[in-house]
Amino acid sequence: MAKTVLVSGGAGYIGSHVTVELFAAGYEVVVADNMSNCDLTCFNGVKKITGREDIPFYEIDCCDYAAVNRLFDEQKIDAVIHFAAFKAVGESVAEPLMYYRNNLVSFLNILEAAKNHGGCNVLFSSSATVYGEAENLPVTEKTPRLPATSPYGNTKTMCEDILRDTVRATETIKGIALRYFNPIGAHPSALIGELPRGVPNNLVPFITQTAIGKRECLSIFGNDYPTEDGTCLRDYIDIVDLAKAHVAAVSRMLDGRMKEGYEIFNVGTGRPVSVQELVDAFEKVNDLKLNYKIAPRRPGDVVAIWADTTLANEELGWKAERTIEETLASAWAWEKSLAGK
Ligand code: UD1
Repeated sequence: MAKTVLVSGGAGYIGSHVTVELFAAGYEVVVADNMSNCDLTCFNGVKKITGREDIPFYEIDCCDYAAVNRLFDEQKIDAVIHFAAFKAVGESVAEPLMYYRNNLVSFLNILEAAKNHGGCNVLFSSSATVYGEAENLPVTEKTPRLPATSPYGNTKTMCEDILRDTVRATETIKGIALRYFNPIGAHPSALIGELPRGVPNNLVPFITQTAIGKRECLSIFGNDYPTEDGTCLRDYIDIVDLAKAHVAAVSRMLDGRMKEGYEIFNVGTGRPVSVQELVDAFEKVNDLKLNYKIAPRRPGDVVAIWADTTLANEELGWKAERTIEETLASAWAWEKSLAGK
C-alpha cells in the first residue's frame, strides 16, 4: 500500500511543488493549510498537474492542537513534511511574538500529535539562514550555526533543535531537517509557482513583477560588496529540484535508510551566483530588458553564501539538475500566466 505523507503548508509555494513530486513518486498526500498566506491557485494547479481531484485537504491551523490531532485520528500518516510557517524576515523583526507563537506552536503540535499516534517520520523545512554570515564557504552541514539575525531565522534554528531533541527522546520519531538555500522558479507547466502577497521581499518575484510592469524598478541592494562584480552571492535552487530533494529525504526515512535518527542536509546547487549575474541571465534567457538600478545595501544581508551539497548528493542520491536559465524562464512563464488569470 502506498505510504501517506502529510504536507502542512501544502497549498503554498514549496508545499505545492513537493505535493506534485510526492504523487509522481507514488506516495499518497494529505494537505493541511490555513490559507493565511495563499489562495487556492496552487492547490488547484496541483490537482490539474497530478490529475487528482480527490486530494484530502484540511483547512486547519496547525496552531490548533485539537484540529491537528483530529487529522491524525482520521488519516494514517507515515511521514510529515512541515512547511506551515510565517517566512517574512522584516515582519518577524516587527512582530516577534507572532512569529515565535506561530512557527513554534505549529511545529510542537505536529510533533505532539505524531507522538500520540504511534510516532512518525518528520521532515522539517529549515533554511540556510541558520548559518548567518559564515566564515568559510561553501557551508557544510557541520558549519556552525550562528545566532540568527531575525526572529524568523531564530524559529528555524529553534525548530531544528526541537526536532533533534524530540528524536533523541522518542524512539518512534525520526527527523530530517533540510536547509534550503534560495528556492526560485516555478513548475514547467506554469500551473503552480510563487504568489507573494504585497511587495515581494525576495529577488526573483521582484524581478518578474518588474518585468511584467507591476513594479516600476528593481533595486539591486548594493554593488560595493567584496565580490567580483560587487553584488551579493547566493545559491539559487530550482523549486522542482528542491521538491525532489524532499521526496529523496522522505523515501530515506520511510525505507529505513537513515544512518541516524536525526539528519540534516543542505539543499542547494553548490554554485554561487551574484545578483547582477542573475539579473543578466533573466534578461538574456527571456529576451527582455529589465528596469533596474543600484541601491544601498539592505540591512541584514550577508555578502555570500552557498552550499556544499556533497552530503545530499551522496546520501540522498539527489542533485540539482535544472540550469539557472531554465529556472528563470519558468519563473517568467509563471508570472505571465498570472497576468492572464
Ligand atoms: C531571504 C532571507 C532568508 C530567507 C530567504 C527565504 C533576508 C536577510 N534573508 O534570503 O532568511 O530564508 O529569504 O527565501 O531577508 N535583492 C536585491 N533586490 C531585491 C531583493 C533582493 O538586490 O529587491 C538581493 C539581496 O540583497 C540578496 C539577493 O538579492 O543579495 C537575494 O535576496 P532574497 O531573495 O531576499 O533572499 P535572501 O536575502 O538570500
